[in-house]
Amino acid sequence: MKAVVITRLGGPEVLQIQDVPAPSLNTGEELVRVQAGGLNFADTMTARGGYPGTPKPPLVAGREFCGTRANGDRVMGYIQWGAFAEAVAARSNLLWPVPANWSSEEGAAFPVNFFTAYFAYWKAGLLDQPKGARVLIHAVAGGVGTAAVQIGKLLGVEMYGTSSSEEKIARVQKLGLQHAINYKKQDYEQAIRDLTNGEGVDVVFEMLGGEHTTKGVRCLRDFGRVIVYGSASGQRGLLDPGILYSKGASVHGLWLTYLSSNADLMKQAWQWLSTRAAEGHLRPMIGAVFPMEKAAEAYGLLCEGKNFGKVVLKI
Ligand SMILES: NC(=O)c1ccc[n+]([C@@H]2O[C@H](COP(=O)([O-])OP(=O)(O)OC[C@H]3O[C@@H](n4cnc5c(N)ncnc54)[C@H](OP(=O)(O)O)[C@@H]3O)[C@@H](O)[C@H]2O)c1
Repeated sequence: MKAVVITRLGGPEVLQIQDVPAPSLNTGEELVRVQAGGLNFADTMTARGGYPGTPKPPLVAGREFCGTRANGDRVMGYIQWGAFAEAVAARSNLLWPVPANWSSEEGAAFPVNFFTAYFAYWKAGLLDQPKGARVLIHAVAGGVGTAAVQIGKLLGVEMYGTSSSEEKIARVQKLGLQHAINYKKQDYEQAIRDLTNGEGVDVVFEMLGGEHTTKGVRCLRDFGRVIVYGSASGQRGLLDPGILYSKGASVHGLWLTYLSSNADLMKQAWQWLSTRAAEGHLRPMIGAVFPMEKAAEAYGLLCEGKNFGKVVLKI
């Protein structure tokens, strides 16, 4: 079968379409014929060699997909690698039915972004008590960002979002983002101060790393929470816990790879998400679709921060 293979560690240039053996099944797994794969920032990190838990190259790329089960049912699924291929050995408990009227591309764009965004609100304690809450969402026009905006709109929280581009900002405002901050033009910490009368926000969704972890804490008001779930800057988050004392602030980790092994938690999340998707409140935002042969171009968009919403590969 054809697959997008990470041939060695490096940038988009290390990706090649190759013929590889069909995957063999382990207990709890089933074969899914893949039609589309969703590209994640984690895929770019895997290719570069920075993603924990993935084997050394060569390996088949891709963490999420949409396709058909042996009985013909359409499913979307999550895996750690191996999704960008004509078939994938998927864990049955990490397959979900594709909502009616969604394309394969939309199905492939759902799992990582929406489960991650859901868990960010869950960790922040905002699913039950969203009233009056302010949330700062970094990379607000990206995959997880656009999912977080849709969920935030449903919860009725006040959202502040950062992006590098006016064009992306205009698109994400249409999804319901109330306060956009172009960090190329304005320091976001200062912008948060200005927009909140010097008070700050209750929650920061922090995926930049480096100095931004501490900067996130500085954006909080009393008892605020920073949810750390990435390091797109390429640097590990820097934090002196001493900074948390004065505001009673806290920092929480979130890693979908880890949470996805908790069946009860995933079931609870899927129940919440699928109900709202069926009601038409949640729908993946797709910025670009590429044939799998152009995987390197697709990866390039994410590496350069040029994507809006999700980038999808047609398999
Ligand atoms: N912990 C978890 O379980 C988990 C799960 C999913 C995703 N994540 C993390 O969440 C973040 C978003 O993931 P995603 O797949 O949805 O990607 P994405 O947001 O669609 O794409 C990355 C975006 O980050 C922004 N960015 C800021 N600094 C950047 C930099 N130095 N290099 C590249 N992009 C930069 C860019 O948007 P602007 O130019 O508009 O700023 C870019 O479009 C990533 O850090 C990812 O690792 C974590």
